Amino acid sequence: MSRTPLIAGNWKMYKTGPEAVAAATRLAELASDIVNTDIMIAPTFLSLPLVSGVLAESNVKLGVQNLFHETEGAFTGEVSPGMVKAAGADYAIIGHSERRQYFGETDDAVCKKVKASIDADLIPILCIGETEEQRADDKTFSVLDKQITNGLNSLCSRDLGTLVLAYEPVWAIGTGKTATPEQVAGIHEYIRSLINRLFGNELAMSIRILYGGSVKPKNASELMALDDVDGALVGGASLDVDAFIQIIRYDR
Ligand code: PGA
Repeated sequence: MSRTPLIAGNWKMYKTGPEAVAAATRLAELASDIVNTDIMIAPTFLSLPLVSGVLAESNVKLGVQNLFHETEGAFTGEVSPGMVKAAGADYAIIGHSERRQYFGETDDAVCKKVKASIDADLIPILCIGETEEQRADDKTFSVLDKQITNGLNSLCSRDLGTLVLAYEPVWAIGTGKTATPEQVAGIHEYIRSLINRLFGNELAMSIRILYGGSVKPKNASELMALDDVDGALVGGASLDVDAFIQIIRYDR
């Protein structure tokens, strides 16, 4: 089964509104001829409506870096899936390691957010990955098992038709240390087999599994060439439109 690659940019807490608009405008121009790759950028909530305006006619989609699972209510400081959908988002990055690490996000919270995203017709990008210490302790596979099993708890394959997974080893995020193609190939194959075991072959074959962690123009093509890698979640390099477009054009 052929899976359309997705190259997603996580802008984290960078770029003011005008900076985000300028970068998104340029990206939309540079990517206007791309038809066989899905492209997404996730600016801050604050920039979302502004960027949505400039991307409306383009093939670059919008996402958010987080959301809260409730539809509305007295939840000071939070933003709901329906609100981000109304502001132009199609994707939601859920459970990024920085949210787990700095904001105490648990698998249980992640699971609620995945469900709420699906209910709001957003495509969830569920982030998973082990820390350096967990890898050194040989716990990589058990960590991934737990993050996937608990993060998708009580969901069934019918709910998960649009789900995207992003394998992001924590030790490779923002560090310049990329996992080797051999490491990535082995882990992605394992993740696909786990999805097969939990949700069946159809979902396992159709689900997109992105790699994230220091993806740069120079390493994108060797990573994207791997059988079970269906795109990339890009942090630092997505802030620079010229670098990001090179990653998007990895096979050209
Ligand atoms: P990086 O970030 O590309 O800067 O390593 C990846 C991410 O956090 O998704």
